[in-house]
Amino acid sequence: MPNPIDYFISLFRGQLDLPSELSAYYRPRPYRNSAVRFRGCSIADFEERRRILVDEAGLNAFLFRADKIPGCDLLSDSGTTTMTSEQWAAMLLGDEAYGSNEGYFDLKEQVGATFGPAWRQKSGLRVGDREPLFIFHQGRAAENAFFSVLSRELKQKGLPAPKPLSGDLLPELRSRIERRAKTVKGHGTASPQPFFIVPSNSHFDTTEGNIEDKFMVPLNLPCREHLANDETFPFRGNMDLDELENLLENERERVPLVYITITNNTGGGQPVSMENIKRVREITRRHKVPFFFDACRFAENAWFVQQKEEGYAGRRVEDIVREMFAHADGFHISFKKDGLGNIGGAICLREESFFTEKFPHFANEITDYQIMTEGHPTYGGLAGRDLKALAEGLRTVTRQEYLDYRIAQVQRFGGRLAALGIPVVHPIGGHAIYIDIDKFFDGAARDDEFKGIAFTSLMLIAGHRVCELGLYAFGSFDGEKEIPPEPRVNNVRAAVPRLAYEDQDLFAAAEAMKLLYDHRDRIPGVRVEYGRDLKLRHFKSRFSFLG
Ligand SMILES: Cc1ncc(COP(=O)(O)O)c(C=O)c1O
Repeated sequence: MPNPIDYFISLFRGQLDLPSELSAYYRPRPYRNSAVRFRGCSIADFEERRRILVDEAGLNAFLFRADKIPGCDLLSDSGTTTMTSEQWAAMLLGDEAYGSNEGYFDLKEQVGATFGPAWRQKSGLRVGDREPLFIFHQGRAAENAFFSVLSRELKQKGLPAPKPLSGDLLPELRSRIERRAKTVKGHGTASPQPFFIVPSNSHFDTTEGNIEDKFMVPLNLPCREHLANDETFPFRGNMDLDELENLLENERERVPLVYITITNNTGGGQPVSMENIKRVREITRRHKVPFFFDACRFAENAWFVQQKEEGYAGRRVEDIVREMFAHADGFHISFKKDGLGNIGGAICLREESFFTEKFPHFANEITDYQIMTEGHPTYGGLAGRDLKALAEGLRTVTRQEYLDYRIAQVQRFGGRLAALGIPVVHPIGGHAIYIDIDKFFDGAARDDEFKGIAFTSLMLIAGHRVCELGLYAFGSFDGEKEIPPEPRVNNVRAAVPRLAYEDQDLFAAAEAMKLLYDHRDRIPGVRVEYGRDLKLRHFKSRFSFLG
């Protein structure tokens, strides 16, 4: 008879090897609740939700009161994190001095520790001297500052005369750029012949809005596996290298920088491989074009590299993050995602790079911009306590047990939806489930019916909130007809807030979606009552059901 403790250890250990769906309730979460929030409403309050949705919100999910959502609020994973006790403790120690508070030094130190030595200010330099970190109150404020200063710098260099695109561009790429250039609108006015092009694997909507606002053309170059819906390819967030090469070979003068969004939120929350990052670095280095990350979900991306990319199994997430960032000239980030914060953003610039070489005054100008719009650069629009919470968040987010649980939970939710027959985008990404609305409605919906908006409205009636990121969010209206996004995306996103929900909550949302799916022939499209021709229209528009 073996020792009973040995015997039971081996039995318990066997449970850990079960697939995560089955063992979900055996393997505990790597944290426990230390504060909870009771709901102020009930799942049975259907009539109240109908009134709020129709009369107050005009079927716009962004305008629906959050305190009247009894189920999962999956509108965004941004700023919705439940902070850890360590973060709350750090907040209590917040130093609210006007300049050079303690949190600023903590965050700066942690940025160097998390992203690697290139992002650390050299010792011996004074505060503000070749500063690598520019703090903003959130990601889009950093983007806005970035493109405002960049476009000013480009103008100061003297804009080249407008000329036709090179005939040597790949024909499909050329016509895509031409079509996209026609829809560029700055401050709601038509474009004065945009000259600059900013390519990315896929821009997020606010990045795209900020680029357009400066009359530049945001150009998405998602990889072929993404376009072909290849569900077996683990890195569908990658960039198409042939198109990038062809663009830089023929139109380098028009490209002030190249982006990669990690993970690729617009393209289904899909990760980008280290191989793709390295190849983009090689191509941009050869053409001497700066290379930046939109780095919001850097830790989740690194986890996918560790789990799925050859040569990275067993490597520490911390080391993979530093390797990824060793390839970039700069990045901007919303700390509301993998900073595990409720607010915060930044631009980070490497001291010696193609970017600082090309734009030597940029760091100084961005500091002036911070002072005019956010506050002193040592707090950048945030309270001292927020800076402390972010430093702590960056220390937590790369922990293996956190990322293992976080991403497994998103995958279990997606697996549940797929098992119920709901067409979700595969492979499932790190922070959200994307429901393919074209497939959900069997390809039957017209482009101007916005069935994704109808779906999100009925989910609110059920008591859960999700977000349309498809024909309405990314399409536009030319005064006569709808222009769908290119490449076409028509998704509804269910983004999972970090450390906030349990499987039971997410599975309740899955059941509501299943009911809608089973009765999809009873879901009409919507009419746009207000805001169809606005920029970033999905945040502001109002709708009513057709028929
Ligand atoms: C990829 C990406 N970039 C930028 C942003 C903008 O960040 P923020 O919401 O902090 O302004 C987001 C927000 O969701 C995002 O997902």
